[in-house]
Amino acid sequence: MIGVYDSGYGGLSVLRHLVEALPEHDFVYLGDSGRAPYGGRDAHTLLDFAEQAVERLFEEGCGLVVVACNTVSCVCLRHLQQRYCGPGSGRRVLGVTIPGAELAVSIGAARVGILATSRTVSSGTYVAEIHKLDPTVQVLQQAAPLLAGVVEEGWEDSEIAELCVRRYLDRMPPVEALLLGCTHYPYLAGALGRARPGLRLLDPAPFLARRLVEWLARHPGFVTAAEPPGRLRVLCTGDPQAFAEHGERFLGARVPPVEHVAEIDGRLAHADPAHAPKGQIVRPRRGSRWPGSS
Ligand code: DGL
Repeated sequence: MIGVYDSGYGGLSVLRHLVEALPEHDFVYLGDSGRAPYGGRDAHTLLDFAEQAVERLFEEGCGLVVVACNTVSCVCLRHLQQRYCGPGSGRRVLGVTIPGAELAVSIGAARVGILATSRTVSSGTYVAEIHKLDPTVQVLQQAAPLLAGVVEEGWEDSEIAELCVRRYLDRMPPVEALLLGCTHYPYLAGALGRARPGLRLLDPAPFLARRLVEWLARHPGFVTAAEPPGRLRVLCTGDPQAFAEHGERFLGARVPPVEHVAEIDGRLAHADPAHAPKGQIVRPRRGSRWPGSS
């Protein structure tokens, strides 16, 4: 069973490519819609949310969790991998940033733009990952905090979307290609195309799906194909009915009945109460990772 985690609905736009590429697998999707948007949240809150979400997906029986959210991938992926995926753990957490960077470099452009949430941009992770692959690529970033909301409202083909997109792109020097560094932006392809005709748009999701197929072939131990295949469960922390209704647009298919995950005392409820930690929870201190802590 493969877990897919996102801040809310947007990751369903990634899930649709994963399901298409891996029809023999079961998926569990967790959208933290009750605490979205993530894009402007501080790093420590994101780490907290991300830990809770991947723990829940592990509890659901996922050996592999794909972080579909660009913001979480950019800020938390390394932490999640170190915390949960040590040798012998039998678990893996993968994200969208490395496939996104590979895609950006693969087209051979000299100047690539990144359009993303504020936190993704301030993390600098996409720039760093692209430069690890090719330090000569000029990378120009632009935060676009309004765009995810525009898509969630269903206004992606409206004049509002086009106006917002133009405003953001006007702040960015000309680029040959634009990496859509947020789960919602593939739905703005029309508005982006009208604002910048001919601009090449790079959606990491289909590329991630292809990479995941290859990865699973190389790492067969983490997920076993399901029998019968193709089951999808959807969990969310917000209103399940609203999630199913809105989610259909992102998934491109009917969303199965959505299960609610409660937040109890600021933490997501455990799948099985027996898994709930008891007593005081002390996190390991990680040196300079926590500035200000003594
Ligand atoms: N899923 C987030 C991302 O890809 C966008 C939505 C949000 O801000 O929560 O960065």
